[in-house]
Amino acid sequence: MAGKILIVDDEKDMLTLLKRIISEETDHELVTETDPLKAFERFRADQFDLVITDLKMPKMDGIRLLEEIRKVDPEISTIILTAFATIETAVEAIRKGAYDYITKPFRRERILLTIDKVMKWQEMVRENKALRQALAEKNAPSSLIGSTPVMRDIFEQIEQVAGTMATVLITGPSGTGKELVARAIHQNSTRNSKRLVTINCTAIPEQVIESELFGHVKGAFTGAFKDKKGLVQEAHEGTLFLDEIGDMGFLMQTKLLRLLQEGEYKPVGSVTTQKADLRFIAATNHDLKADIREKRFREDLYYRLNVIHFNLPPLVERREDIPLLSYHFLKKYARRNQKDIRNISHTAMNILLSQDYPGNVRELENIIERGVIFCKTDTLEPPDLFLETPRSSVFPELEQMGGRLPFREAKEQMIRRFHEQYIQSLLEESHGNISKAAELAGIQRQYLHRLMKESGIDAEGFKSENQDPGN
Ligand SMILES: Nc1ncnc2c1ncn2[C@@H]1O[C@H](COP(=O)(O)OP(=O)(O)OP(=O)(O)O)[C@@H](O)[C@H]1O
Ligand SMILES: [Mg+2]
Repeated sequence: MAGKILIVDDEKDMLTLLKRIISEETDHELVTETDPLKAFERFRADQFDLVITDLKMPKMDGIRLLEEIRKVDPEISTIILTAFATIETAVEAIRKGAYDYITKPFRRERILLTIDKVMKWQEMVRENKALRQALAEKNAPSSLIGSTPVMRDIFEQIEQVAGTMATVLITGPSGTGKELVARAIHQNSTRNSKRLVTINCTAIPEQVIESELFGHVKGAFTGAFKDKKGLVQEAHEGTLFLDEIGDMGFLMQTKLLRLLQEGEYKPVGSVTTQKADLRFIAATNHDLKADIREKRFREDLYYRLNVIHFNLPPLVERREDIPLLSYHFLKKYARRNQKDIRNISHTAMNILLSQDYPGNVRELENIIERGVIFCKTDTLEPPDLFLETPRSSVFPELEQMGGRLPFREAKEQMIRRFHEQYIQSLLEESHGNISKAAELAGIQRQYLHRLMKESGIDAEGFKSENQDPGN
């Protein structure tokens, strides 16, 4: 991997020589300086992978320079160039954190080899860091992000139900975070030292799902050469997550019901029943009520599962969470790809805010991940997103109403919407105090009153409970 190297030596000839040797054999970008003070400024202003510095220089010696640059970047690698006479100082430099030293005069192989070693070592350190980070992320409690009222309610509810044995049903369209919620419940429960075992009912064919869940005994069917533990047993004392439960066949649903009701099951081919101590969480993107009507899902099973119900809304119904989620994913993928991307430009964010997201949060996550990979600066810009720029519409509401309305009607509707939104935000700000609201808007109190009446808005709903008496 090509890196960027800063070379400092007060002898110009030395710099020319080093430059020639290094650039003949490698692709590293080289910056040279004869003045250590200037070199330090360069170092501060730019990003380098390696600094090669002479020891004896006027103004500031190599050791001082090393100390100063390590204050800016404690992890920077440095190679010290030294004449034989000053070898002891070079050793001191190593103690102060220099990577290696090279005595002058040197052979070109020596310098190239040392640079190569530093670069490889650095790559290893970086990879190691990324690995450790990934591992930490994997073990960390899954981070559910959101600040909209619906999401905050969900977080609160997770905490409330996590400690109970209650069966949980999580519904919502694809990519809305159902699995994440299941994990969060398990992690917040007293069962968190035991396993969360997931069975994906879509992925497993009908014929094998029973033996997957309950296990089987030797000889139960062709190919059953020995006893096999089922997922239920693996999840003992932990949590069993039945993902995509809507895809489970009717017959299997009956057997599952028995497990839920009696805590008992029979491995395939076995005559003895076994007991299981489990907490059940189920998730689906089906409309189970409709499945019940169409006799695809057992009603009794539905009521068994639906003790506590989480319904995750599609992302477009909580657009206010898009910035928060976007930055969360930006951080995650910048770290994973070892890129220093910190911002999302205003226009890029507007594009993100205007998408439809049929794939919900997962889709947003994919967009950001791809953006991070293609981004060349420290800011995600519209081209990195590969998305259509929204047709800017002042009248999204009108478009949603479908078709074109006659001018007068369209205008009236827009004005009505404007009045409503404007007055609502006014009253929010003034906590339902009409005089104050009128003052904020720069209109007469009576006029505001009339507008409120026309829009059917009442100030009462905006008054906070513990208002100070002066309000
Ligand atoms: N609130 C959230 N905060 C952070 N990440 C989220 C959130 N919601 C979803 N995600 C991320 O989006 C992706 C999809 O989430 P998850 O797998 O939980 O969705 P799902 O509802 O189970 O989808 P499906 O129905 O397709 O299985 C995951 O990578 C998850 O980490
Ligand atoms: Mg899922």
